[in-house]
Amino acid sequence: MDNKAQATGSKRWVKVWDGPVRLFHWALVALVATAYISAETGKLDLHFMVGYTILTLVLFRILWGLVGSDTARFTQFIKSPAAAFAHLGHVLRRQPEDETGHNPAGAFMVVALLALLLFQTITGLFSNDGLFEEGPLAHLLGGGWSDTLTIWHGFSFDLIVIAVVAHVAAILLYAALLRQDLVRPMVTGWKRLPQSFSAPHMAPVWLALAMLVLAAVVVWVVVNMIGAA
Ligand code: HEM
Repeated sequence: MDNKAQATGSKRWVKVWDGPVRLFHWALVALVATAYISAETGKLDLHFMVGYTILTLVLFRILWGLVGSDTARFTQFIKSPAAAFAHLGHVLRRQPEDETGHNPAGAFMVVALLALLLFQTITGLFSNDGLFEEGPLAHLLGGGWSDTLTIWHGFSFDLIVIAVVAHVAAILLYAALLRQDLVRPMVTGWKRLPQSFSAPHMAPVWLALAMLVLAAVVVWVVVNMIGAA
């Protein structure tokens, strides 16, 4: 149990999102916007740096999904498609369900967003701008593959935009239909939950830092050692 969980009536405040997940999320929002703006304005040095940072964060989040806090772990929040549809049914019938972490439908969106961001950043490593600039791994490919991956890099950004619009629409739908504010917990980390809900285990910050360093080293090796080969 989390010592900081405080009783308030029939519900109490419980810490549901750890600092690393919240920082990851809001950094991602800023970085995805910067990646788009830097690509549109031709600031490719910035675009590359932002891309490496997003790749590092996504790799970190995958590692954190394996070893991190309860609500961050894939095994805790990924449920069956049947559970996701059942949950959507509850939402449409305006039957609020208390969730400690991601709901079963939102979990699929989280996985889709992470997969798209991973695909986006990896294809970026192999892309080129058709002029002077290319990703650090583009020279390793032959036979027009860099051009093909450049097209996929652009296409997957369109998919990311669609996924983000659906993601934000789902959050607005939650607020409108169920009067549930999902944004505040993602900002503060805390949520009001029934007394019967036990507080999730929060993994230590040093472990998050270790995973972040590991992810950064992997990206550094890929960009500077494999890319320079
Ligand atoms: C570039 C835009 C965005 C991306 C790529 C993105 C991505 C994600 C990802 C990957 C997660 C899962 C977090 C985790 O488990 O680590 C998430 C959750 C969440 N996001 Fe976003 N997000 C974006 C924009 C937004 C915006 C603008 C809002 C606020 C309106 C928002 C609110 C939330 C909330 C509330 C959750 C938690 C949902 C839940 O309770 O299950 N996101 N987002």
